[in-house]
Amino acid sequence: MEIKIFKTEEAAAVAAGRYINNFVKKNPKAVIGLATGSTPLSLYNEMIKGCKEGVDYSGVTTFNLDEYVGLPVTHNESYRSFMNRNLFSQININIRNTFVPDGMSADLETQCTDYEERIRSAGGIDIQVLGIGSNGHIGFNEPPAPFDSRTSVIELTEQTINDNARFFDSKEEVPKRAISMGVQTIMDARCCMLLAYGSGKTSALKGAIEEVPDTMNPASALQNHPNVTFYLDEAAASLITKQVREF
Ligand code: PGA
Repeated sequence: MEIKIFKTEEAAAVAAGRYINNFVKKNPKAVIGLATGSTPLSLYNEMIKGCKEGVDYSGVTTFNLDEYVGLPVTHNESYRSFMNRNLFSQININIRNTFVPDGMSADLETQCTDYEERIRSAGGIDIQVLGIGSNGHIGFNEPPAPFDSRTSVIELTEQTINDNARFFDSKEEVPKRAISMGVQTIMDARCCMLLAYGSGKTSALKGAIEEVPDTMNPASALQNHPNVTFYLDEAAASLITKQVREF
């Protein structure tokens, strides 16, 4: 695990963005796993800047980590609409090569197995972008999350519903279920980059990085990943004592 600590979120996003933009320059057919929430927005701005400066996203394929169940794609808070608004409409990606699980599917089980199959037939994920929940979730893999899980329907915890209520008019409107890539699906990515900023993530990060891997902190599974980098700001990293690189 490589832990990089930056003075600010902006500096972390610039570094993470440079990594992705450079990867796409060298690998025009890159397969990138994407995340939603507040955290990746500054990274997506760096990808948009990169594209404006000539990085060609037209051959890139993307797979999002998750999607709410029962929220139409036209809803402002569906992850498909989040991605279209905050990234896909602002880079020259082919929208047909962007995949988000279909949370409106009448057959959610088949949707989950098809999603796994689609990732496999794209050749697997080169770089998976991750955030982390205040409870340690990655994607929507809520604790306790079996480390061998695959894409499935997840019941969201009270903590996650509370954390995400800020995006909706009321807590009651937050969907109770989501489709999420499993922990093993994420672990299969050839490279993972986890971004976390601010004081709300300190204990989840401490558990993920410094404690014995445990299904009660799903992000701790990443300790067993051969190529994972954490991009943190100083506030998020305040409980980390392990050897880190400061920027
Ligand atoms: P956030 O969510 O970026 O909105 O903090 C992260 C997550 O829940 O994975």
